[in-house]
Amino acid sequence: MGTNTNKNAFASKMGAILAAAGSAVGLGNVWRFPTETGLNGGAAFILIYVLFMLLLGVPVMISEFVIGRYSQKSVSESFYSMSGGKNAWRYMGLIPMFSSFLVLSYYAVVAGWTLEYAFQAAVNGFAGKEVTQYAVDFVNFSSNPVQPLIWMGLILAITCVIVALGVQKGIERGSKIMMPVLFVFLVILAVCSLSLPNSSQGLMFLLKPDFSKVTAQTVLSAMGQAFFSLSVGLCCLCTYACYFRKDVNLVKDATSVASIDTLVALCSGFIIFPAVYSIQGLQPDAGPSLVFITLPSVFQQVFGDMPVLAYGFSLMFYLLLVVAALTSSISMLEMGTAYFQEKFHVSRVKCAIGVTCVCFVLGTACSLSFGDWSYVKVFGMGFFDLFDYLVAKFIMPIGGLLATFFVGWVVDEQVLKSELTNGGTVSQPLYRVIRLLVRYLTPICILLIFFSELGFF
Ligand code: PHE
Repeated sequence: MGTNTNKNAFASKMGAILAAAGSAVGLGNVWRFPTETGLNGGAAFILIYVLFMLLLGVPVMISEFVIGRYSQKSVSESFYSMSGGKNAWRYMGLIPMFSSFLVLSYYAVVAGWTLEYAFQAAVNGFAGKEVTQYAVDFVNFSSNPVQPLIWMGLILAITCVIVALGVQKGIERGSKIMMPVLFVFLVILAVCSLSLPNSSQGLMFLLKPDFSKVTAQTVLSAMGQAFFSLSVGLCCLCTYACYFRKDVNLVKDATSVASIDTLVALCSGFIIFPAVYSIQGLQPDAGPSLVFITLPSVFQQVFGDMPVLAYGFSLMFYLLLVVAALTSSISMLEMGTAYFQEKFHVSRVKCAIGVTCVCFVLGTACSLSFGDWSYVKVFGMGFFDLFDYLVAKFIMPIGGLLATFFVGWVVDEQVLKSELTNGGTVSQPLYRVIRLLVRYLTPICILLIFFSELGFF
């Protein structure tokens, strides 16, 4: 396998896949997926989610790859240049760009929590507590005006250093180290969890669909989860695709990333639900607090007789969350950094620091919405919930609509064909299917789900 000496490109094909998979695999898999699955009735939700991954997520990802690799420009400028210099498209491209600030801001809050929990696990802070104490501790911690900000600042600082180091030395090298660690942790934890008593009940919850739980809200949540989990719709993957070599097979890469992402999400389910069901009386629908309130207590209870295992399992689980969060936040920060660097010819380091500072300020508002600012409501939601709602349920699907519409209708058809066949050097038997999806099926499905959500039918 050859390497690329261009410093602004991933050196290897493997580096490209791992970086894109690193962006996709994150808290969305280990925290958001189990939460949404728990709240939406298990296997039925998962089926709809997988369908949306194939029908919506993968075509949007391919479109983002095409835009990024063809234009070799940061987002917004890529829309501008590929539309033949239409300013309207430049402004459209700014929507996902600025949304990446929103997503990183609230994402960094949860990432900060994972760091605190990894620290607590390392100092054995979960041992010997009353069951009710975990909820009290979480509420006290998350509503504290200072502590979560310190952890959030630390996560943002680490992300900033990796991005500032550059495409090959920072992002690619980081992904090549962190992704294998993540896979090893996942497998060990899933094997341990599946060997617990009653684990079959947890498995049933994940594998046996109950369609009576499916509502219009479930469908919207599944679409939001598919977009969020694959990191599509914010054009973060357009930015990464600028760094892909010309011989990267975009369709293969997109399907590999989607498969890795789904496997990791399912594996997280295999870790979490068997553990939850192994304790009598616990339910899987605890919502976002599942990972931070239910699980620390579950880990202590299920390994009650073996404190060493309780310690090791908790530590590994929260480190897994930290690593997953980092590989994704890097891609969010890279997007703004690349844009400002290209647009204003400022150094990568300065741009990365600037974007990090803005996200820290916005993230502070999100973090405080759990405590001192909980009375501040916009559309009935605090900043954290508002950002998550807007990004996952609206901006990402709209961004996906934009990307597919752009590639399907605005850009010359030859661009799609040439990018999918690497300039005619490889065959792409799925070309027609992908074109059909990108032009018709994917945008129409996104619109239908939106209109049904708005009560049109
Ligand atoms: N896909 C990431 C996750 O699952 C989140 C993400 C969203 C990353 C948008 C980049 C852009 O955690």
